[in-house]
Amino acid sequence: MSGVFISFEGPDGAGKTTALNAVLPELQKRAKKEIVATREPGGSPIAEKIRDLILDVKNLEMDDRTEALLYAAQRRQHLIDIILPNLEADKIVISDRFVDSSIAYQGGGRQIGVDAVTSINDFAIEGTMPELTVYFDVPSEVGLDRIKSNRSGTEDRLEKEKIEFHQRVRDTYMKLQEQSPDRIQVINANQDTLQVAQDVLELIITKFPNLFN
Ligand SMILES: Nc1ncnc2c1ncn2[C@@H]1O[C@H](COP(=O)(O)OP(=O)(O)OP(=O)(O)O)[C@@H](O)[C@H]1O
Ligand SMILES: [Mg+2]
Repeated sequence: MSGVFISFEGPDGAGKTTALNAVLPELQKRAKKEIVATREPGGSPIAEKIRDLILDVKNLEMDDRTEALLYAAQRRQHLIDIILPNLEADKIVISDRFVDSSIAYQGGGRQIGVDAVTSINDFAIEGTMPELTVYFDVPSEVGLDRIKSNRSGTEDRLEKEKIEFHQRVRDTYMKLQEQSPDRIQVINANQDTLQVAQDVLELIITKFPNLFN
């Protein structure tokens, strides 16, 4: 496979989507390969339907393991529909969230355990991992405050979780980063949006100098 797979990871409100939108035009201008931006949960029609099921605030009785399986299921479909075909077509694929989100949220946040969530995701992804994961680190309260102040009352089912849940998510991300320091590179996301975007741009271009002009 000749494309390049990059994921953006981090807690809710860390600024992943904002930064991706900000850096994409510059990356596209300088890249020697075509760039495809996608997101999870969702990213393709069937995966988006599973996303709606997972995030629906009405699904209060959803079992934690059901949730973890649905995330793994949408990831499988997204991989087959979007990620693999574009990597095979020699493109740069940037996914706003991927497997580390499941390990952090369901493994750590829901306390199913990192090993259990890793193993169902191994089944789903069959070894396809990002070459670079840009991890947006921000204190949980800062991320949640950003969402609350900017989205006035429309939090999804996972955003509604207590602060301890979100702290476990962040702790798990940080453990994953310690285990894979080459793949998972940390961005200080507790800075203004312009600075975060500059850091992300520099990180990606430095990691793949041959891919950009
Ligand atoms: N560096 C920043 N400083 C202040 N506010 C920010 C920053 N980055 C993003 N925001 C604002 O915080 C909110 C959440 O940002 P964004 O949607 O990019 O986060 P996210 O990491 O994609 O969150 P989610 O995981 O929920 O998708 C948005 O309203 C955005 O405008
Ligand atoms: Mg986002």
